[in-house]
Amino acid sequence: MSSARSKMQDEVVTILDNRKINEKYFKLTFASKKLSRGVVPGQFLQLQIQPTFDPLLRRPFSYYRIKGERVEVLYEILGRGTGILSQKGKGSRVRILGPLGNPFSKPKAKKTTVLVAGGIGLPPLVFFAEKNKVDYLLIGGKSKAEVLPKSELSKVSGKVLYATNDGSYGKKGFVTVLLDELIHQQEDPRNLFVQTCGPKVMMQAVIDLARKYEIPGEASIDETMGCGVGACLGCMVETDKGLVPSCVEGPVFAFDSIRQSLV
Ligand SMILES: Cc1cc2nc3c(=O)[nH]c(=O)nc-3n(C[C@H](O)[C@H](O)[C@H](O)COP(=O)(O)OP(=O)(O)OC[C@H]3O[C@@H](n4cnc5c(N)ncnc54)[C@H](O)[C@@H]3O)c2cc1C
Ligand code: FES
Repeated sequence: MSSARSKMQDEVVTILDNRKINEKYFKLTFASKKLSRGVVPGQFLQLQIQPTFDPLLRRPFSYYRIKGERVEVLYEILGRGTGILSQKGKGSRVRILGPLGNPFSKPKAKKTTVLVAGGIGLPPLVFFAEKNKVDYLLIGGKSKAEVLPKSELSKVSGKVLYATNDGSYGKKGFVTVLLDELIHQQEDPRNLFVQTCGPKVMMQAVIDLARKYEIPGEASIDETMGCGVGACLGCMVETDKGLVPSCVEGPVFAFDSIRQSLV
């Protein structure tokens, strides 16, 4: 932990690109030696969207991709901060703190690695599947319009499967339909290792399935964060070690260490 903190940097960067890539996501690109060095999938950044006090708090975003010193962030507009961010063009300056948090662990030998992603949980898992050899990336969304352009997934290892609520792309239903199918194809589901990030309802459903079949795994608990460094106690998560700040002890937690219901 202390080493992760000692590598933490706060820097004003220049936006190189910021564009809408489909109905749901925007992609922001900037270059920074300090904010790109040694980053591992699952870690995140705190963006100060405006130099003024509105919005007051920084907003957390996962690392999506790193190419040399170029950092990409994939985000969707949820409220005021992300709305303002989406309006920032090439050349705009943004203050960013990072890299923060503990990453997903590397794929385990003799385990089938299954990533389960939804919504704003997709970026760190795409990053993970580009950096590591995984077996499956299961992606849930509302409809075909949200599906990432093929170019965004071209370097992803493993089989990519989609589930959409309206059935317009991939399997019809929630992403857990795919996970459930995969579990039932296994001789012993305990050989799976599941890593998940997305809306809390989705992650709770994934954790419930994993517990039912004794499947180990990890979830990135994206609590709303104020400081990102363990000072405001705004992101507490109930674990086997007691209440801990997700920004410092997480955001990635082992399923069996999580004591709270996410919903
Ligand atoms: C570790 C971490 C990594 C994240 N990575 C990404 C990412 O890669 N891409 C991305 O688009 N978003 C990511 N998020 C979520 C992102 O931080 C929020 O979307 C953002 O803070 C919303 O800011 P806003 O000002 O636009 O919305 P606000 O006006 O603050 O809120 C608008 C709505 O969004 C909801 N909201 C706010 N924060 C979150 C959150 N953390 N999770 C779910 N809903 C939230 C609020 O409840 C409210 O309904 C991440 C969050 C965390 C904690
Ligand atoms: S965001 Fe402040 S303690 Fe985690």
